Amino acid sequence: MRKPIIAANWKMNKTVQEGKSFSTLLPADTSLYQEVEVVICPPFTALQAVGEELKGKGIKLGGQNLYPMEKGAFTGEVSPLMLQDLGCTYVILGHSERRHLLGEKDEFINQKVKAAFAFDLLPILCLGETLEQRQKGATEEVCHQQLQGSLKDIEAQDVAQMVIAYEPVWAIGTGVHARPADAEKTIACLRQVISKEWGEEIGAAVRIQYGGSVKPENIREFMSCANIDGALVGGASLKADSFYQIVRGAREGSE
Ligand code: 13P
Repeated sequence: MRKPIIAANWKMNKTVQEGKSFSTLLPADTSLYQEVEVVICPPFTALQAVGEELKGKGIKLGGQNLYPMEKGAFTGEVSPLMLQDLGCTYVILGHSERRHLLGEKDEFINQKVKAAFAFDLLPILCLGETLEQRQKGATEEVCHQQLQGSLKDIEAQDVAQMVIAYEPVWAIGTGVHARPADAEKTIACLRQVISKEWGEEIGAAVRIQYGGSVKPENIREFMSCANIDGALVGGASLKADSFYQIVRGAREGSE
């Protein structure tokens, strides 16, 4: 049985004060957070403050990116050591906004995945097709390529621990979510690719989220799909109330 996981990707939103007030408003529902793993990924500038505010609530902290070196002359970058130092458990890697706005390629993402594991950070590896690729019928091919390129030479036991987030680019921030049955089909294929590459046991263990316009109103339907283990939430994670509704919906939907 895979434990559901809901992660908040705040992207480039929230000052320190705003991050703190979100954390204060989020109910201290520790029994819920034991059943559904909850991760908050604030911008780097708010990581420490949010981490302190969330202490004792049973909620984990994640970074939104890293540079694949421990330290050095990399102006403007943040290292896995720094994320570990602030108490991060997870790190989002390969998000479509970084792939498309900043030109990140699978090879570079693969270096980041390796760097994350080297510092005991669990990657939430994002992948997904654009609308054009979907219309061409290339969804599965694109997702498989991104998966294999980003996870090249990663050990089976590491793959089993990490999280994959299938986020179709056309569903991100648009209010148009994928049909749960379509997301389930793509995610089931990704699980098969993982089983083939790293073994059945790993394919059965790895958690795969759906992301793209997830809201309190649609989370249950996604969670009721056999292969969908959670969600990576952008816009609807910015308000404590709607994010909490999503976490509750995830528990109900996966029952
Ligand atoms: P939205 O939930 O705003 O569509 O964003 C999804 C996303 O990109 C999460 O990483």
